[in-house]
Amino acid sequence: MPRLAVLTSGGDASGMNAAVRAVVRSALWHGWQPFGVYQGYAGLIEGNINELHARSVADIIQRGGTILQSSRSEEFMSPAGREKAVQALRRYEIEHLIVIGGNGSLAGAWELERLGIYCIGIPATIDNDVAHTRSIGFDTAVNTVLDAINRVRDTASSHGRTFIIEVMGHSCGELALAAGLAGGAESILIPECPVDIEALITRVNQGIARGKAHSIIVVAETVYPLDKLRQLLVERTGHDCRIIVLGHVQRGGTPGMADRLLATHMGHHAVELLI
Ligand code: F6P
Repeated sequence: MPRLAVLTSGGDASGMNAAVRAVVRSALWHGWQPFGVYQGYAGLIEGNINELHARSVADIIQRGGTILQSSRSEEFMSPAGREKAVQALRRYEIEHLIVIGGNGSLAGAWELERLGIYCIGIPATIDNDVAHTRSIGFDTAVNTVLDAINRVRDTASSHGRTFIIEVMGHSCGELALAAGLAGGAESILIPECPVDIEALITRVNQGIARGKAHSIIVVAETVYPLDKLRQLLVERTGHDCRIIVLGHVQRGGTPGMADRLLATHMGHHAVELLI
């Protein structure tokens, strides 16, 4: 039987398991033997590879995270690390690899391709920072942020407060933008646009002048120092302001319908492309 391996890499995203499941089941259906690489590129370098069966991926389509586990590997960034990774695959007589991850992980797959391993990348990251496609996990993460915004809005309006909600996204504003728009935020700060604090404060003050009790400001991580923003808002609007950093809750949870379907289609298609 020809062999292929699958790994998940970088920040986990809801739906990765559904993609792994689709890869394994499609490979078996085509008469290929699937192998799982555990702990991403770090595990690949260590040769942490195991055969997978149809039952290995039973009961995971609804689970967040990744049963293959993930990592961010410093060693894989070096040519020597990548060479070790290739050697590990060769020891298992594997020449075909499916990488499920974000833009850094897919760049890694490209490096392996240059070393003679046939690779297909499946975009999976809450950051949605892979061009020309939707990433697995993004939809679920946006809905998680939306749920938080809805809850915060209840308490914000009860107390007449401004809330700054920081969301993840690495250097990409997709998550903040989607959640902010769909959540009806008053302002959204993303790395792709210059930050105009004066305009933001003016908008909050205009809202207050119109009788608006509260404001929601969604900020993509690292765009602006949150404490400084809070201080400015308190001083210049006279309204109480609180900060919420949503953090890793955005990465977990059961994948929604959109991510399960996307993952299933992409996992299946990745196998067919490899073949
Ligand atoms: O790439 C996904 C992501 O969640 C980013 O949004 C965030 O910047 C980063 O991972 C956090 O990584 P870690 O969990 O390694 O701290």
